[in-house]
Amino acid sequence: EKGGYPSFMEKEINDQPSAVADTLLGRADAAGKLTLDELRIDPEELAQVSKIIVLACGTSAYAGQVAKYAIEHWCRIPVEVELSHEFRYRDPIVDAGTLVVSISQSGETMDTLMAVRYAKEQGAKTLSICNTNGSTIPRESDAVLYTHAGPEIAVASTKAFLAQITATYLLGLYLAQLRGNLFSGQIKDILADLGKIPAKVQDVLDRADQIKELARSMEDAESVLFLGRHVGYPVAMEGALKLKEIAYIHAEGFAAGELKHGPIALIDDGQPVFVVVPSPRGRHSLHSKVVSNIQEVRARGAKTLVVAEEGDEAVRDYAEFVFYVPETPTLLMPLLATVPLQIFACELATAKGYDVDQPRNLAKSVTVE
Ligand code: F6R
Repeated sequence: EKGGYPSFMEKEINDQPSAVADTLLGRADAAGKLTLDELRIDPEELAQVSKIIVLACGTSAYAGQVAKYAIEHWCRIPVEVELSHEFRYRDPIVDAGTLVVSISQSGETMDTLMAVRYAKEQGAKTLSICNTNGSTIPRESDAVLYTHAGPEIAVASTKAFLAQITATYLLGLYLAQLRGNLFSGQIKDILADLGKIPAKVQDVLDRADQIKELARSMEDAESVLFLGRHVGYPVAMEGALKLKEIAYIHAEGFAAGELKHGPIALIDDGQPVFVVVPSPRGRHSLHSKVVSNIQEVRARGAKTLVVAEEGDEAVRDYAEFVFYVPETPTLLMPLLATVPLQIFACELATAKGYDVDQPRNLAKSVTVE
């Protein structure tokens, strides 16, 4: 059942092209019009929402953080992303104009379920993005958008994450379509770019050996830092989480812009730092800012491990190691850039002799607080 792979985690990493493709399947017609009929929520009501709150834990919350960039950009609706267990115990402002989007692979995470119940009580509309048919959170929500990643067995989430990002993007595009924020041609173009993601993920997987070799050479690493900006920031957090949970290595992800506000003090000789570099074709000159960050940490002795877009030659001079991902629009980059970080963690944990599918102290569904 592991499909010839040594672990479920490795299998599930390799399942990601179909996890994304299956999540996209049947959600738009030939003209590029989204038809999320399964949502069971009145489109007119949905078009009226004034605020979105995304609730989730762990990896699913990082998918939510990625979604914020896309949904705000496309729909011009404010999106807050909050950990379910933090949301529950403050006094959040939720009303009938709020759409609460929960993201949960299992659909059983107690904190997220309780947060959804609380939001419902406050009169919010609740929409669940979930990978498990008929599980509790989608059953208790007003609407559901299933990710079609297939069952995820390994404790560490991989293919569900890519499918969650894909599903939130479909939701964002659907809202933009309902509200008229984007022209139909724009939506069609973005859907076409999303449609190319599975083949691009496959391209990354086909070059997994590059990153595996790096991982095996870093078996003795005591701490690994990850930095990114914009959508690369949650990718950095996710890369760090994967390494903590299966390789038991101290890892921290942070926003590259925060370096000077503290984290740069951590850098000394030989400190490995992964840097997720935005596309040089993107807006806001973020690329050059991140390249400066690479130079800054390198000047202080860091071992710089870079994930960049194909054709980005500017990073080569400052990187100990570069992994190139195929070109894609900036907002879609997390669907590619996360994959080498998953492979890195999986291979490093394997090299250390750990059971990557069953990391210590962790359970697949966290059904207790
Ligand atoms: C990390 C991981 C966890 C889950 C989190 C939420 O690899 O698997 O952080 O993402 O426990 O679980 P779900 O998505 O089932 O609510």
